[in-house]
Amino acid sequence: MNILLTGAGGQIGADLVSALVAEGHRVVATDLRPQPERPGATWKQLDVTHAGDVDAIIHDVRPDVVYHLAAILSASGERNPTLAYEVNQTGTWHLLEACRRHAVPRFIYTSSIAVYGPGLPDPCPDDVPLHPTTMYGVTKASGEMLCEYYAKKHGLDCRGVRFPGLISASLPGGGSTDYALFMYVDGIRRGGYESFARADTRVPLMYMPDGVRALLELAAAPRERLARTIYNIAAFSPRADEIAASVARAVPGVTITYAPDPLRQSILDSWPRALDDRNARADWGWRPRYTLDAMTDDLVPKIRALLAGGANLAH
Ligand SMILES: NC(=O)c1ccc[n+]([C@@H]2O[C@H](COP(=O)([O-])OP(=O)(O)OC[C@H]3O[C@@H](n4cnc5c(N)ncnc54)[C@H](O)[C@@H]3O)[C@@H](O)[C@H]2O)c1
Repeated sequence: MNILLTGAGGQIGADLVSALVAEGHRVVATDLRPQPERPGATWKQLDVTHAGDVDAIIHDVRPDVVYHLAAILSASGERNPTLAYEVNQTGTWHLLEACRRHAVPRFIYTSSIAVYGPGLPDPCPDDVPLHPTTMYGVTKASGEMLCEYYAKKHGLDCRGVRFPGLISASLPGGGSTDYALFMYVDGIRRGGYESFARADTRVPLMYMPDGVRALLELAAAPRERLARTIYNIAAFSPRADEIAASVARAVPGVTITYAPDPLRQSILDSWPRALDDRNARADWGWRPRYTLDAMTDDLVPKIRALLAGGANLAH
């Protein structure tokens, strides 16, 4: 199949592009950034805020599936809400419009737990009132609604997941759950980390291999099996100090301290503590494979290897 990704130079793109290439697809990876290393994919620079460029590339590539990843994440979006609006809101609209005009068969959307606001059930189901507290969450909620609109109004096959915070052995893009990865990275290279989240912070998290597999499985699911456009997916929901304990098990002697950052802590406190993903399980067979400790066992050697190879995981 012909696959086009936006925002392919980011944390998810790093692993999703190689998974798609490994499956034998022809992959066009686009991003605002200069060409990242994405072996096996064709690279094109694309700013999703430029409607004409988005239209032209969809016209030229004629993708069977578009994975729309380009976004400004939660903490970065609060520092620059105008940019978050332009990229996340207007950019998503440009993509949907181009896909409609050029009859793209399938559009995969990456939403987030940031669509939720405070005071929701634990675990939190798919269908509750959405009162996001960040511009990122507002634009993600709106993107979900745009996907539903294009599906109903124009028959565009839109599907998406609400991701928990994703953890992988690459530099994250300014999300509020980045403290989790930094515990591993700084624990290994410095013997300790001062977390910007309180010790009792509990939000849903997921290891990247599960996140990438979720996108591939959702994209491949038969349309008639999908009763929804957007699905919660869940893996584990540890407290920050439980992540620290898991890191310490694999990296003996590591010291994690806590100095909450008001902006990021307030974002984390507004999110659900756990997600109810029963609809994804029922409709397309979603199951996570990694627990917190299984992730730690897989992640620590990868981070050690990257640091030994001189990778820049500084934050
Ligand atoms: N990583 C997570 O924990 C997480 C959680 C929930 C949802 N998501 C969603 O998944 C998607 C991918 O996330 P990620 O973690 O890879 O993010 P990231 O920040 O690592 O990557 C996003 C990419 O978008 C690109 N980008 C920014 N502005 C752009 C523009 N104007 N045009 C084109 N590209 C632009 C950036 O250069 C970057 O490479 C996003 O939509 C995000 O909202 C991620």
